[in-house]
Amino acid sequence: MSTLVVVGAQWGDEGKGKVTDYLSARADMVVRYQGGNNAGHTVVVGDQEYRMRLIPSGIFHRKACVIGNGVVLDPAVLVQELDYLTERGVSTEHLRVSGAAHLILPYHIRLDELEEDRRGALRLGTTRRGIGPAYADKSARIGIRVSEYLDGSIFAEKLRRNLEEKNRALSVLHGAPGFDFDAVFDEYQAYAWRIRPLVADTSLLINQAIDRGENVLFEGAQGTLLDLDHGTYPYVTSSHPVAGGACIGAGVGPTRIDRVLGTVKAYTTRVGDGPFPSELTGREGEWIRERGREYGTVTGRPRRCGWLDTVIIRYAARVSGLTHLALTRLDTLAGLDRVRICVAYRRGGEHITDFPQELTCLEACEPIYVDLPGWPAFGEADSLADLPREARVYLDEIAERCRLPIALVSLGRERGQTLAITDVFAPSPTCGNRAVRI
Ligand code: IMP
Repeated sequence: MSTLVVVGAQWGDEGKGKVTDYLSARADMVVRYQGGNNAGHTVVVGDQEYRMRLIPSGIFHRKACVIGNGVVLDPAVLVQELDYLTERGVSTEHLRVSGAAHLILPYHIRLDELEEDRRGALRLGTTRRGIGPAYADKSARIGIRVSEYLDGSIFAEKLRRNLEEKNRALSVLHGAPGFDFDAVFDEYQAYAWRIRPLVADTSLLINQAIDRGENVLFEGAQGTLLDLDHGTYPYVTSSHPVAGGACIGAGVGPTRIDRVLGTVKAYTTRVGDGPFPSELTGREGEWIRERGREYGTVTGRPRRCGWLDTVIIRYAARVSGLTHLALTRLDTLAGLDRVRICVAYRRGGEHITDFPQELTCLEACEPIYVDLPGWPAFGEADSLADLPREARVYLDEIAERCRLPIALVSLGRERGQTLAITDVFAPSPTCGNRAVRI
């Protein structure tokens, strides 16, 4: 009887898919509130591995799943994902899509690619899935919402108008061919019949579920440092992965959120460009990348790897109001003689404990570490007491440095390899402002 937002507390890829899949067993509804198919997570159910991009992980538990208004939706990808799940016997009948979500269309993808190429050395390292251009159109108020897409005549009118402008941009700015209206219209009309039955006023559905006292889980994509406002701008995505994004992107008020769980990998990774103070560019970084199979789910790009950085996690706690941490990939670090935790930065003679807002300042920051003993590989663990002592010391150090309790520890890819320490869905003493059960 609680609402919980799960956010990434680093640069994305923290293992939110596994965490939300695990917690979905206790949820009644799982909601995605931002991003699009730039996200990618792998969920392991028994001997099956599923690679998902759009549909919330709750689908594997047959829970009500929502793609909220804050998501940008590529209809082609949604239909592919529906087919992918159906072919594997996973029911998608409980999925609902907001009519207010905006579409990603082929010109967004083409422009994302061309703009990235044109930036050369100043590229952002986007996933080239059209995310930035789609959100830009939303802000410029020329985007096309799902509900408009489903009305053939509105879709035709808006698509025709947009293609005129986009084709001009493609030709004049990039010397690239434009898109043919009929070809795009016909292809996207063919997806519409699959999507139509799923479309609803999802803000209403979510608020009704909260009114009924159900457990609602908001599943963030990407991570805090990729947030458009609070991340390492301009090396960010175009949406709001922070917890506040759940209110806007799902249509719920902030007073309805009970807890915020920050998902943290036991080390740090980043795809794309931009500063990364605790990055390991040598053999230790490679060791972590190979051990952790740190390659992007969406693009296959190798992820940059580094030590855990608690300056970043404390910052995520500040901008998202984290109440708990979920720590993933503790198993990946097993076997190292020594592990390091970045606890502050040094910049010239300055000692920095708060994550700097300016990119130029961050670029000049050097990490200050505390060193802790590593731990050996371990087998099954049913409680914290089953972990090697050094691994427990590492967890305690993180909790203390971040001033947050660790509610959940993930020790491997499978559902069972999870230690739940705190019940994050337990009724909250602060939810007195809840509407009465109706
Ligand atoms: P975009 O979201 O494709 O526009 O990419 C903007 C930045 O966000 C790039 O640095 C991407 O690598 C990064 N990014 C987007 N989605 C993810 C994700 O799911 N995990 C990690 N990084 C991401």
